[in-house]
Amino acid sequence: MKIKSLLKTSATGQQVIVKGWVRTFRANRFIALNDGSTLGNLQCVVDFESMDDALLKSINTGAAIKITGNYIESQGKGQSHEIQVTDLHIYGEADPESYPIQPKKHSLEFLREKAHLRVRTTTFSAVMRLRSALAFGVHQFFRNEGFQYVNTPIITGSDAEGAGEMFRVSALDFENTPFTKEGNIDFSKDFFGKETHLTVSGQLEAETYAMGLGEVYTFGPTFRAENSNTTRHLAEFWMIEPEMAFFDLNDNMDLAEKFIKNVLNYILKECEEDLIFLDDRLKQEDKSKPQAERSSMGLLEKIKFVVENEFKRVSYTEAIDILRNSKPNKKKKFKFNIDKWGADLQSEHERFLVEKHFNCPVILYDYPATIKAFYMRMNEDQKTVSAMDILFPGIGEIVGGSQREERLDVLQKRIKAMGIDEKELWWYLDLRRFGSAPHSGFGLGFERLVLFATGMSNIRDVIPFPRTPQNAAF
Ligand code: 4AD
Ligand code: MG
Repeated sequence: MKIKSLLKTSATGQQVIVKGWVRTFRANRFIALNDGSTLGNLQCVVDFESMDDALLKSINTGAAIKITGNYIESQGKGQSHEIQVTDLHIYGEADPESYPIQPKKHSLEFLREKAHLRVRTTTFSAVMRLRSALAFGVHQFFRNEGFQYVNTPIITGSDAEGAGEMFRVSALDFENTPFTKEGNIDFSKDFFGKETHLTVSGQLEAETYAMGLGEVYTFGPTFRAENSNTTRHLAEFWMIEPEMAFFDLNDNMDLAEKFIKNVLNYILKECEEDLIFLDDRLKQEDKSKPQAERSSMGLLEKIKFVVENEFKRVSYTEAIDILRNSKPNKKKKFKFNIDKWGADLQSEHERFLVEKHFNCPVILYDYPATIKAFYMRMNEDQKTVSAMDILFPGIGEIVGGSQREERLDVLQKRIKAMGIDEKELWWYLDLRRFGSAPHSGFGLGFERLVLFATGMSNIRDVIPFPRTPQNAAF
């Protein structure tokens, strides 16, 4: 039986078999067993007098074991039920001298170096169960809304964001690279007969499917070779990208807000135990911080706040006015001072708006065209595009999206102005040639959502094996 289902029953007296890993073994008598199905451990009581000495010695933290016994009401305090062990089998021992995950507090930095074992800690198992539930909540939301799930390619010939931050995919021999007469690398000899990269976003391909299936979403890994060593950036992260025919920017914002609230509501219902644990963990962490750095809200409170309150919608132009007149800007406290309209917003500005000014999630819209991607729809003012970013407390940007430019001539002009080769995007332009329609979509960084929902502070701790600059261990 899984410990999760066992701990839910009160049907005592039954004989059960449970399999899992020893968290602790106390007084030669009490095993705290965890099988990953739930936060709680199952107390298993062994009768050491009737047990083989060698067997007793190998019940160490980390060992994988099978327990057969009677499920009974607990004789002791701290748990309602326990197992009276009648038989114990050890699948694999864990040498206490060398097993790194001992029953004491390990730092998150230490555990990052043991990423292959860290899921055996209470914190990481809770985080990863939440991550799994969030992914399910995502699929459930879109299914209920009538969206089709499409899988967009991971290897691609186009740069969706036009930012040039892509990892190359090649099967060429580095030692023996073919060159053209002009002295360039001859990609016609490469596996695909052309230059290819890992995708930064599934959006462009998702758009093609929205123009036939109506409402679609992708949910897959995306890759960015940007050298950002922050607590919010990964080189490999998962992105959820819905794309909807006949949606304008307002419909897009409505959907994004509903989506986030829905998914968070889902974990409030499904993951109460893990959330309570993480809420408590955050409170403990906070105690060791100076007053000014403590969170004003607990984790559960923060999630409920987002679910229950409207996101504040503010245009880029309004935001710039607020920032320009803000105290930190006047006192030159920002690293990047905001002096004029058109400035790109840094995370310090986004966080000021969300955490200091509005105190709630904010949707910024209508950004200057010059700081946004080529595919965003030009507004009538000819200066701004129908873009929207959702900014979250403690996170900064969690969603980036837009209404797409559906007018062929306008799009061609934009592509040219941005120095992108139109030929690479012939199929994307075809969508504007045949049955073009207004449409919109957005991308939500899954790990940033997991960060928010778990209260963890480093994005490296919410994905099993983080890939960041100079780090691709495991
Ligand atoms: O704002 P971005 O770059 O938008 C796009 O890629 C669009 N094509 C999405 C779309 O409209 N379909 O990225 C979207 C989101 C960001 O808001 C952020 O949450 C996340 O992806 N993100 C990252 N998450 C972790 N590490 C990184 N390096 C990230 N870069 C973006
Ligand atoms: Mg963005």
